[in-house]
Amino acid sequence: MPDDATEIAQKVSWEFYFIYWICVAAFVGVMGAMIYFVIRYRASANPQGPGKAPHHSTALELTWTFIPAALMVAMFWFNFRTYVEMSTIPQGNDVWEITVTGKTWNWDFGYDAIVPGAQSTDVLYLPKGRTVRLRISSNDVIHSFFVPVAKVKKDAVPGRYNYMWLRMNQLPEFREDQDLQKDPEPYYNFYCAEYCGRDHSTMVGKVVVLEEPDFKKRLQDIANELNNAPLDEIGQRTYEMQCAQCHVIEGPPLTGGGPTFENLYKYEQPLEGGGKILADENYIRESIQNPKAKIHEGYGNIKMPAFPNLTERELEGLILFIKMQSDRWVPPVIEREDEGEGEETNGEDTNDDAAPNPADQNETEETTNTENDAE
Ligand code: CUA
Repeated sequence: MPDDATEIAQKVSWEFYFIYWICVAAFVGVMGAMIYFVIRYRASANPQGPGKAPHHSTALELTWTFIPAALMVAMFWFNFRTYVEMSTIPQGNDVWEITVTGKTWNWDFGYDAIVPGAQSTDVLYLPKGRTVRLRISSNDVIHSFFVPVAKVKKDAVPGRYNYMWLRMNQLPEFREDQDLQKDPEPYYNFYCAEYCGRDHSTMVGKVVVLEEPDFKKRLQDIANELNNAPLDEIGQRTYEMQCAQCHVIEGPPLTGGGPTFENLYKYEQPLEGGGKILADENYIRESIQNPKAKIHEGYGNIKMPAFPNLTERELEGLILFIKMQSDRWVPPVIEREDEGEGEETNGEDTNDDAAPNPADQNETEETTNTENDAE
């Protein structure tokens, strides 16, 4: 059995072993008695044959009725009590909610109820000693979110929310074989426990438990990084999290995956059912948000999910990243003035609010590597 990192898990383990040892005792008792009788009453040592069988023993019958019945009731009672505790989702302000979204082929975690703007993929951050409610859903097919150290599991069903809760009471420890370059901190594992398709087996991830102040600081760092990162970095990260399982950016396309992103932008793409389209920004955006609108020739049978959970900035970043994979992408050349100069030369200060800001980050074309690296 895995470690027990929650009180519920300890109870489940206790009940598991309670039943286990009852079964062991019953097995040894029955088998032992059988072997004893086989030897004791074997025909060769008892030539006189069977004697008269006893007819009735009230004491014996009561014993073999009430002891097993009492054990059964105990098993039921302990398990029922824990089951109710496990299924009663705690409410109240001191319970923190994290959203869990399963999709082919990873898990997204949203912490907006704790630190706005914080989210993670394939790593679930949890505070130690605090009750956390997980609101679980799916973007596509049925998955199942399973945390073995907490001994809780819940289906992630498209179109509805399921809930489970946990309160971690210990921090994970480093594993002996842990690669510290790749995984610098200790973690537990979570799994997808419902066969959901081709890459079901890759829907695993880490549960990183932190002391509450560290937990909040980590979420704050994540939120800051997500908000402040240059657009192309956001795009690359979004690609790696959401797209890389099916779309390559160089080399041959993956079997069972989607078209390559290499030289997609500004090239004509053949469409399923005939026709062609020039892959511009609008086509890329539409294909992310509504993959079935214009299907690339030869990919009619591949089911790509839509990505309604992408933030506008992730979407913009992703489009920029896809454009950058094309040799027809021209890096923008607009020079952005730095703030000090801008104020000196800007004679329209009073209009600042009304006039569109030339440095607006929403303008994909204007955000480049070099500008942001210089900061
Ligand atoms: Cu998702 Cu199995």
